[in-house]
Formats: sequence, structure tokens, C-alpha cells
Amino acid sequence: MQEQAAYNYQVVRQFTVMTVIWGVVGMLVGVIIAAQLVWPELNFAEWFSYGRLRPLHTNAVIFAFGGCSLFATSYYCVQRTSHAPLFAPKLAAFTFWGWQLVIVLAAISLPLGYTSGKEYAELEWPIDILIAVVWVSYAVVFFGTIMKRKTPHIYVANWFFGGFILTVALLHIVNSAEIPVSLTKSYSAYAGVQDAMIQWWYGHNAVGFFLTAGFLGMMYYFVPKQAERPVYSYRLSVVHFWALIFTYMWAGPHHLHYTALPDWTQSLGMIFSLILLAPSWGGMINGIMTLSGAWHKLRDDPILKFMITSLSFYGMSTFEGPMMSIKTVNALSHYTDWTVGHVHSGALGWVAFIAIGSCYYLIPRMFGKTEMYSKRLIELHFWIATLGIVLYIASMWIAGVMQGLMWGATNPDGTLTYSFVESVKDSYPFWAIRLLGGVMFLSGMLLMTWNLIQTMRGGRAVNDAPVLAPAAAH
Ligand code: HEM
Ligand code: HEM
Repeated sequence: MQEQAAYNYQVVRQFTVMTVIWGVVGMLVGVIIAAQLVWPELNFAEWFSYGRLRPLHTNAVIFAFGGCSLFATSYYCVQRTSHAPLFAPKLAAFTFWGWQLVIVLAAISLPLGYTSGKEYAELEWPIDILIAVVWVSYAVVFFGTIMKRKTPHIYVANWFFGGFILTVALLHIVNSAEIPVSLTKSYSAYAGVQDAMIQWWYGHNAVGFFLTAGFLGMMYYFVPKQAERPVYSYRLSVVHFWALIFTYMWAGPHHLHYTALPDWTQSLGMIFSLILLAPSWGGMINGIMTLSGAWHKLRDDPILKFMITSLSFYGMSTFEGPMMSIKTVNALSHYTDWTVGHVHSGALGWVAFIAIGSCYYLIPRMFGKTEMYSKRLIELHFWIATLGIVLYIASMWIAGVMQGLMWGATNPDGTLTYSFVESVKDSYPFWAIRLLGGVMFLSGMLLMTWNLIQTMRGGRAVNDAPVLAPAAAH
């Protein structure tokens, strides 16, 4: 009977707690590699070297921190908006343990130097197979719950989560096609420029679907909930969904400007990247305008501050991205710290902020409390993290433009004005400022951990909660 059914909060709670833990771990590794750029002597062991730890950082923040937050929020949202408990609860539990195993295997194999060499898809083939199995299970749980729904329509957040789950399965399986030569080594099934194209079709859509569509699902559920207002325009949200998923698929070649990829493919990637500005901003405006009539809440609700600031950074990075995809701009920005600045305005400003805001919403509910242990700590977290981001991205912009200009400068006789080492030397002060920004961002995460522990202490784990009657609010 539906009245006796209960939402499965256990798996949501587990993923929420792990989001915070992996956030701290992944960002700590970020701080370590930022420090290694300032003090190269910190590369004291092979397994601790920059080259090994950098992919550990990207995997930990994207797939462990970001991934756990996506599992937690999508499982929560799909149950609440479908008025149905999770389909196949044992499979849902498997997705939790399976995903944690993937993360642990990544944390061991990457420092040991096992890598397939494809950015954001570095893990070797046995782990790739495990990822595929966990991900398909995730799809079964998510879409099974949608099928069991008691509501006539599928709320827009679930469209974004669903699009993200399906696309990531496709991207991962196609890009990871590889020929194993031993348990720990494989070669890509593709070669040459086709390999590069498939890799960046994957890479860009990892940004578009893992780091964007899934987090937009989060935005469409948690911003209206926290603001206690309906989505500004439901019609716009549907247009946003279809326009975004159609356009993202074609933009990958902007990562391969001025390479052996046919020139028309690069231009196509550039044009689709420019078009992408429109749906991205449509979504941002829809999110921010959801606050219409409730702007005053921003003054004293730090969770809402996280969410609305994340949308501002989303707007900023989706303006910057299309600009960087213009070939002449890319000629300056490519290979420089400008790209790293762009990445982190999206990653820290958008992805981490919306995930943090959503976790602050979920944590008390998962521990039987009405609110977090300390609201002031959330406020402090918000300000220290925001200042950290500003230091991080501003220093990277300046360093990036400086590097691009120095590398391109020539003397009247055609020789280079600066040697590469000179540009490295001049980048040091900016890398130190980035390190400071990173330490501040990480400190914010530590405050969040403390707040989480205190909230857990005063509460009790909620594993299930009665399913809402169909007419009740989400
Ligand atoms: C309209 C949206 C966007 C467009 C058109 C776009 C475009 C670009 C371009 C042109 C580059 C530089 C490629 C290069 O020179 O190698 C880039 C890099 C990158 N962007 Fe974006 N971007 C967008 C949004 C975002 C967002 C929201 C995020 C993060 C959440 C993000 C994450 C990244 C990452 C991780 C890279 C670095 C890839 C690498 O080389 O490893 N982008 N993007
Ligand atoms: C305390 C916070 C963080 C610090 C200090 C930090 C630091 C760094 C550093 C030093 C790099 C290498 C840059 C280079 O090669 O020059 C890097 C790369 C990267 N980080 Fe972070 N990071 C942080 C948080 C995050 C988060 C939360 C995400 C994603 C959600 C993220 C995603 C990435 C990505 C995708 C790259 C590769 C960029 C590229 O290849 O262009 N980082 N990070």
C-alpha cells in the first residue's frame, strides 16, 4: 500500500555524507598540487608527484565529490517528485558501495601511475567496467522510480537528471572502448585524430552533462525548495532542457583548435559553443528569477546565498566558455592558466556551490533535524569560499593572459621575445595567490564538516520517511 511505503533516505544520507568527505579529500589534493607549483621540492616521491596527483584531484572532485552529490540529490528528488520510494532498493545500495569502491580504486591506482592517459577518463579498464555496471544500475533505479511514479507528469529536475544519467552512460562506454594488454594496461580502441575527437566529445560532454545537466537538475529542485517559490518559468525550463542537450553534443572540437582535426570540424565546434550561450543563460535567468518576490531572503539565508551565487558563476563561466571557443581568442588562452581559471569559476563557483547549498538543505532532513547545527558557520563558509574563488580565478586570468602574450611575443627579427622559463618565473606570484584562494575554499569545507558532525551528533539517522500523499507538495 502506498500509505505504508517509505522513501529510501538511507542511500541519500550515505551519499550526502560522502559528498562532504570526498569534497575535503579532493580539494585537499587540489591544495597540495597548487602548493607543488609554488614549491617544486614538494614533489618528493613518485607517487606524490604533480603528474600523479593532478588526475587524482580531478577524479576526486568531479567523480567522488560531484558524483556523490549527484547521486544523493537525484535519489532524493526523484522520490519526492514522483511520490514513490526508490525502485530496487538493494540495487540502490549497490550503487552506493560500488561507487565508493570505484573511488577507492582510483585513489590507489592513480598515484601508482596506472592510467589510460585520457583526461577525465584515466582509470584503467577493470575500473571502467565497474563504473559501467554501477552506472547502468543507477539508471535502472532512477528510471524504475520514474516508472513507478504516482504523479501524472515528470518534474523538470528529473528530465535533467535523466538526461545526465543516460548521456554519461553513453559517453563512458564509447570513450572507454579499449584493448587490454594486462590487468593494469590497455590501449584505446581508436587511433590518431579519431581518438582525440572521441576523447573531447567525451571530455566536453563530461562538462556538459556531468558538471552541468546533473547540477541543473539540482538547481531546478533545490532552489525553488529553499526559496519557497515555484520555478520562475516552467515553459522556459523545458526549452532550456532540449536546447541545452541538443547543443552541448556538438561543441567538443573547441578543445582541439589548431590541431590535426579538420578545420571545418573546429569551426562547427566553435559555432555550437557560441550558440550554447543562449540556453545556458536562459537556465541561469530561470534559476535566479525564481527568487522574484523573495529577494529579501538572500539577506539572512546563507544556503540561498550559496545557490544564487552559484547561478551567477554559472552565467559567468558559460559566457567565458563561448568566448574562449572563438579561434582567435583560443589562440591566446589555450595551454595557459586562463583555461584553469575558467575551469574553476565553473567548478568552484557553479558546481561546488550548488552542491554545497543542496547538501546544507539535505543534511538536517537526513538526521531528523529542522536545521543545521550552526547557521553562522554556513554564513562564514559562504564568505570564505566566495573570497577564495575570487582570488583563485582572478589570479589565473591575469597569469593566463600574461602567459599567452609572452609566448606569442616576437622581436622584429622573428625570434621569441621571452623564453618559456621566463613566463614560468613570472607566473609564481599568481600561483601563490591561487594557493591562498584554494586554502580558503578548503577551510570552508572544513567548517562544513564540523557543522555536519555537530548536526549528526544532535540528531538521529533517518533511513526512511513516509511517502507523501499524491496531492501533497513535493
Ligand atoms: C557554454 C558553456 C561553455 C563553453 C562553450 C565552454 C568552452 C570551453 C573552452 C573553449 C575551453 C578551452 C578549451 C581549450 O583551449 O583547451 C574550455 C575548457 C574547459 N571548460 Fe568550459 N565552457 C563552458 C562551460 C563550462 C562549465 C560550466 C564548466 C565547469 C563546470 C566548464 C569546464 C571546463 C573544463 C574542465 C575545461 C578544461 C578542459 C581541459 O582542457 O582539461 N566549462 N571550455
Ligand atoms: C580547494 C579547491 C581547489 C583547488 C586548490 C584546486 C586546484 C587545482 C590545481 C592546482 C589544478 C592544476 C592546474 C594546472 O594544471 O595548472 C587543478 C586542476 C583542475 N581542477 Fe581543481 N582545485 C580545487 C577544486 C576543484 C573542484 C571543486 C573541481 C571540480 C568540481 C576542480 C576541477 C579541476 C579540473 C577539471 C582541473 C583540470 C583543469 C584543466 O585540465 O584545464 N577543482 N585544480
